[in-house]
Amino acid sequence: MTITTTPPMRVAVIGGSGLAGSAVVRSLVRRGHEAVSVSRGSGVDVTTGDGLAAALDGVDTVIDVGNTAAEKPAAMIDFFVTSAANILAAEHEAGVRQHVLLSIIGVDRTRDYPHFTGKLAQETTVAGGGIPYTILRATEFFEFAESAVQWGTKGDFSDVPPLLMQPIAVDDVAEALVDAATAEPTNAIAEIAGPERHDLVDLARRIQAMRGGPALRLVPSWDQSGFGEEMAGNLLLPRDGAALAATTFDDWLRSSARSS
Ligand SMILES: NC(=O)c1ccc[n+]([C@@H]2O[C@H](COP(=O)([O-])OP(=O)(O)OC[C@H]3O[C@@H](n4cnc5c(N)ncnc54)[C@H](OP(=O)(O)O)[C@@H]3O)[C@@H](O)[C@H]2O)c1
Repeated sequence: MTITTTPPMRVAVIGGSGLAGSAVVRSLVRRGHEAVSVSRGSGVDVTTGDGLAAALDGVDTVIDVGNTAAEKPAAMIDFFVTSAANILAAEHEAGVRQHVLLSIIGVDRTRDYPHFTGKLAQETTVAGGGIPYTILRATEFFEFAESAVQWGTKGDFSDVPPLLMQPIAVDDVAEALVDAATAEPTNAIAEIAGPERHDLVDLARRIQAMRGGPALRLVPSWDQSGFGEEMAGNLLLPRDGAALAATTFDDWLRSSARSS
């Protein structure tokens, strides 16, 4: 655990009720900072800007880990661009010092995946938004393997894309985001990945075995909508020089088994 060496800060976490956001809020609080969790559940809509001014009042830094459930590509892309523009406008009004954005490794390597297209456009909006920023691109969270099984389920089997990946614990991403939020802005993009390479189908099988119960047949396949062969190869892997987090998939699996 990193102990805070900076004075306590007031940090707004966009998407603070989500998977990454709740880990960021926990990390901030543990490190002695004040976390303002921002989501529709807390009365703020980043797509319209409603409630943002009040949420950012007195905030030093914003960490944006918002996400959309939109399925249509245009709506997905629009969410990331519009929300970034609204958040940046509110930051100018509130005198926010730094904008920290969570993005994804590989967003600059394909134009075939709308979530990545949206995240890349969001990065561009942040970089040109006039607020000092730090962008952290992370690999997929370990939980991604379970989501992929759900997305590919068709009756008693699931199509799971055999993605080569280097997934990471969401708590490690949260720590890195809080490190960035409490340091000087870099106005640059950094990368963070988990410590080991894996195959997504293998991860999904190991999670199923840990959960027990009736197992779905997992079929390695590029047929799952959203993940075609364009995602094969090294597309999701970190570049040389990326930070590598400590938590392994086995560590995460053991702690998930204890808490389930
Ligand atoms: N999952 C991964 O493997 C992974 C890896 C690397 C990077 N990322 C990035 O990490 C970010 C967070 O992902 P996640 O999986 O943690 O997301 P998530 O669990 O789906 O959480 C999304 C958050 O955004 C909020 N939100 C959605 N629409 C909103 C709106 N209109 N106004 C205000 N808040 C809104 C949600 O709360 P309400 O619904 O209450 O509004 C929730 O707090 C995403 O940008 C994603 O691209 C994800």
